[in-house]
Amino acid sequence: PDHGIQDTGFQLQDGLDEAIAAFCLPEVLGFGSVFGPAMFRADYRDGQWLPGEFQRYGPIALEPGAKVLHYAQEVFEGLKAYRVDGREAALFRPEMNWRRLNSSAARLCLPAVPESVYVDGVFGVTALNEAFIPGASGESLYLRPFLFGTESNLGMGVAREVSFMVIASPSQAYHPGSMSLLIERGESRVAGGGIGAAKVGGNYACALQSAARCAELGYDLTLWLDPVKRRDIEELSGMNFFAVVDGRLLTPTLTGSILAGITRDSVIQLARSRGLEVEETSIAVDELLEWIAQGRCSECFACGTAAIIAPIRELGEADGRRCQLPPEGGAITASLRQALLDIQEGRAEDTFGWMAAI
Ligand code: COI
Repeated sequence: PDHGIQDTGFQLQDGLDEAIAAFCLPEVLGFGSVFGPAMFRADYRDGQWLPGEFQRYGPIALEPGAKVLHYAQEVFEGLKAYRVDGREAALFRPEMNWRRLNSSAARLCLPAVPESVYVDGVFGVTALNEAFIPGASGESLYLRPFLFGTESNLGMGVAREVSFMVIASPSQAYHPGSMSLLIERGESRVAGGGIGAAKVGGNYACALQSAARCAELGYDLTLWLDPVKRRDIEELSGMNFFAVVDGRLLTPTLTGSILAGITRDSVIQLARSRGLEVEETSIAVDELLEWIAQGRCSECFACGTAAIIAPIRELGEADGRRCQLPPEGGAITASLRQALLDIQEGRAEDTFGWMAAI
């Protein structure tokens, strides 16, 4: 069968076509819990990448001594393919994810994924799962490329055997509603000089304890402060932060401990193109709380690939003091969200050249 993917020497596992034909998209998707029937795997050994293989989605064999399980040598990406209202399937800014994957990989001493391997994996998995790209607005095929050390060896040191995989999850937006955030004044997500700017699993593991405290205290998510002065807003656990102050859009400068979000970059470009003044700057959390109280800060929102743009309705402390924002978000948040979705879902002209047809 024509899989719609260019032949660059990869393999197709036996039974893959049958698995694709047998797959049914469930009615309720949620985020990241349903997986498309096709995945990709390429292995790195003896200093080189071997030809990749498209496989049936399913369990993988891993030595219990694999370095990823002990020393967390793992990096990942998240990007989306859209096919809303039956339009042509397209990925949003996939090259940016490739660049970031490799800069995260460099930070953890994992080998770079060559462009050809990344393109095979990401475009191929999208093409093979194309029939399962959900078609309602806000829905997409969420792709998760990841790279991890498989070498079985408990010594400290760089894994000499590594795998790159791509799995796909037909999904709804991650946080469809508005969010209430706990200002985390106790723990840090990252260390100065650490791995905060890299997209690595360890950063997300580090956020789990605070997430549990959020749930106990009635908040949705954590708002992290800088690890050194514990003063400036950095990001949420999986999203970047924006505030509208005196009619200008502010977002924390990428200080080296903040993830350089691709949605963050897109929001900045989109806002500027719509005549909004955007400033990347330090935002002291206590100052922001004053600006909200004075009415100078009218909106806050978070953005990320999974979440798109989600309004923040409240910022609060562990002792229960809470500072309110418009419950459903404000006009700037809503219009940026709509403008971004219009491009991603093919209703607006792609003036930035962000969409890549598969
Ligand atoms: C994404 O937005 O793609 C992320 O990686 C965030 C994750 C917490 C779902």
